[in-house]
Amino acid sequence: MDQFIIHGGHRLTGRLAIKGSKNAALPLMAAALLTDEPLILQDVADLADIRNMARLLAELGCTVEQTDHATTITNQDESRSHARYDIVKTMRASICALGPMLAKRGFARVSMPGGCAIGDRPVDLHLRGLEALGAQIQLHEGDIVARVPGARGGGGRLRGSRVFLGGPFGSTVLGTANVMSAATLAEGVTVIECAACEPEVVDLANLLIAMGARIEGAGSPRITIVGVDSLGGATHRVIPDRIEAGTYMCAVAITNGDVTLDNCPIDCLSAVLNVLDRVGVHVAVEAGPASDPMRMTARITSSRNLRGVELTTQPHPGFPTDLQAQTMALLSLADGNSVITERIYPERFLHVAELGRMGARITRIGSTAIVSGVRKLVGAPVMASDLRASACLILAGLAAEGTTTVSRVYHLDRGYEQMEVRLRSLGAHIERISEKPSPAAVVESGV
Ligand code: EPU
Repeated sequence: MDQFIIHGGHRLTGRLAIKGSKNAALPLMAAALLTDEPLILQDVADLADIRNMARLLAELGCTVEQTDHATTITNQDESRSHARYDIVKTMRASICALGPMLAKRGFARVSMPGGCAIGDRPVDLHLRGLEALGAQIQLHEGDIVARVPGARGGGGRLRGSRVFLGGPFGSTVLGTANVMSAATLAEGVTVIECAACEPEVVDLANLLIAMGARIEGAGSPRITIVGVDSLGGATHRVIPDRIEAGTYMCAVAITNGDVTLDNCPIDCLSAVLNVLDRVGVHVAVEAGPASDPMRMTARITSSRNLRGVELTTQPHPGFPTDLQAQTMALLSLADGNSVITERIYPERFLHVAELGRMGARITRIGSTAIVSGVRKLVGAPVMASDLRASACLILAGLAAEGTTTVSRVYHLDRGYEQMEVRLRSLGAHIERISEKPSPAAVVESGV
């Protein structure tokens, strides 16, 4: 397993282009299961989770060809419809194969994802949504086994319906992706109420529409889908990664830096920009070459006179849970107290104790963390527990006095392409070294 060694205290300066979104690309790739024609995706980042999704689709009978410019996925052998535990345990997002496979093949078997480091992660809303479309679902030997009655030779299809996707923590992003994808091939009209409004859902809807689906309202809590008989292939460019953009914004701010981000999805970062503004980080936005609000240019500067703030994670357009940990690293160096409340994953605080090893003063009370700003962080050996916690510890290491060693960075490689190379290009002193594998090392599921 690899580690990062970071010598802190160097300002980040320069220019960086944001990569394609991981959380958009995963359900987009799964949409290839809805058609017999090739799906061509551009701007797919080179990430461990993307490689896992490609491996899963290959097991499910697709060919996947990757070049520097595009990923082409063609659904070819519909006899292999079992997403096995071996793959699902490495990546919870494997669940997004369920809806497309069920709608197109009439049958799907997907290993039930377990919990992970950021908490319990049920899929009850996905299953209730697909049942509302007429699927019969059973649990068998740890697998979700889903069938469309009368399909497989009998001509049976899913049936359009009214589906409510609200749960105790709001809607579900991948659940909305699953039900929306499945409904594209259902007979009749589906209305999803309490749909997730995340930009990744909008990107999926745009791809499905390009494939011939009839969808209205994506990005709002009510999505209407009129089922069609079949979908074709399409070419689609993945939206830039709003979480990668927010992470680099925090990295620039914590090092008192000056960096320009290109291909930056400003249009979906309002809550993040609002928090950064209140903290005292300056973000100057210019139109990008395409004048597309999702692909802007933003210059981030910070004078390190940071102020504490209160923030609560919420479904989009609220502040994203996937930036909570990175923002906590930043706020650990702000003046005064900050209050961070986690409303999506109440247990997503494993980074708190590791930040404490670096001198941060953070008290956790239930799903709230109170961060009392300190003057400096000090380097220490720390351990990453999940993808975003890894990014948080790296940010802390960039600002800390002395040397920080972050172990288990395989978590980071799931969602950030070559982060150490990109940070080095901005002036960070960070290197990757290979640790001896430990027998206890298990690649558990995270996102
Ligand atoms: N939930 C339920 N029942 C369900 C599904 C979800 O109660 O059937 C709960 C969850 O436990 C959670 C909340 O609803 O409390 C939201 O979960 P959601 O289903 O929206 O999460 P997800 O779709 O599994 C995606 C991202 C996560 C991101 C969340 C929330 C992908 C591959 N993953 O997960 O990304 O945190 O939405 O925005 O898109 C990450 O990238 O680090 C990551 C964890």
